Amino acid sequence: MYVMTRSWEKYRHSTKFLGSGSSTSSKAPQFENAEPALIERGKGCRVWDIDGNEYIDYRNGLGPVTLGYCVPEINKAISEQLEKGIVFGHPHVVEGEAAEMLVDVIPCAERVKFLKTGGEAIAACIKIARSATNKSRIVQCGYNGWINCLSAPGGSVPAGIANSQPLKGIPHEISSLHSSLGWADYEAWEKFFAENGKNIAAAVIASNYAEIEKGHEFFPFVRKLTEKYGALLIIDEIVTGFRLAMGGAHEYFDFMPDMAVFAKGFANGMPVSAYVGRGDLIDSAKGIGISSTFGGEALSLAAVKAVISFYKQNKVIEHLWETGGILWPQVDKLFKKYNISARIKGFNACPQIEFDKTELGSEFFRNSYLNGVSLYNVSYVNYSHKEKDIDETLQKLEKAIASI
Ligand SMILES: Cc1ncc(COP(=O)(O)O)c(C=O)c1O
Repeated sequence: MYVMTRSWEKYRHSTKFLGSGSSTSSKAPQFENAEPALIERGKGCRVWDIDGNEYIDYRNGLGPVTLGYCVPEINKAISEQLEKGIVFGHPHVVEGEAAEMLVDVIPCAERVKFLKTGGEAIAACIKIARSATNKSRIVQCGYNGWINCLSAPGGSVPAGIANSQPLKGIPHEISSLHSSLGWADYEAWEKFFAENGKNIAAAVIASNYAEIEKGHEFFPFVRKLTEKYGALLIIDEIVTGFRLAMGGAHEYFDFMPDMAVFAKGFANGMPVSAYVGRGDLIDSAKGIGISSTFGGEALSLAAVKAVISFYKQNKVIEHLWETGGILWPQVDKLFKKYNISARIKGFNACPQIEFDKTELGSEFFRNSYLNGVSLYNVSYVNYSHKEKDIDETLQKLEKAIASI
């Protein structure tokens, strides 16, 4: 029996001081007394709320935790660096070492620079693209971070923020330069490039998780289109990086973008992003004013090095695919067994749970929490989920689904 009283009381109290109760829109709890409102700690594939309830966790911090919470090897790297210092007035040795390791595992990376968040690194690539092409328009696909939600009518904005026309807080002069097109909507992309090609600086694409299979044709198609019109191709690997493959979608689907952004996944939760790609483009950041005090922050970069070594030594990518390949098809079967109009779509390494009705989704997530499983509409297996955790998850989810 899950009682969450303390968690919700303290959470409600926090909303007096903490804007809308969470700094990340999609982390704010929705289901009163049926969802962990405040987490206290995590270990492996499990988290505990402040009432002491335990959950098998598939939210993974909404993406960054690919190995599990408090993995000893990564914690050790962070604490050893902590003893030496966090930020310095010159580059720390770890910055170049982490960059070299990324160049080694990311196909499009000739050079690397670090920032703190995914959205910020995408914004850096957009500025570089405009400078390199001397063009101004940007065409996007999917969510690329709040800083880049600039297109009218809204493009892709995080869950919970309604699309509106015009977008609040975005002057028309800016939104007129940003457009958002659908995943694998070939006709729309052809038409947009035919009409605006000479003004397009870059296409920025995040994979669509439910329909990700279409990446086999869509990515080469956009690559050709951008080449034809002299635009750059920027791939948002924030979710796909270190999940589909270390090098993300462009490694998995085997094509070459001009730049790519990594953020979640390559530091197991430490706050760091990397924009990578053609050497001339990444080098140009210095001359066009892209810089941040915390870009070379050493605790996160020590974690990056430890995470890459861990991936290489432990076949992490194989684990994410194989373990996801055991769990998600079984969840799909449970939906069918209990006649629930819901399904698992996309790749098992980053599947999307799709419901015919929103209320059905709400009931499923609520029941799952109350049975000790924490999910999100895109849920991930991490390296700490082992066979016994998957078995336990399936037992708990069967109870959750049966009681819908
Ligand atoms: C595909 C994708 N791109 C960009 C972002 C933005 O990253 P950040 O929140 O670190 O700015 C996210 C975050 O959810 C994301 O999932």
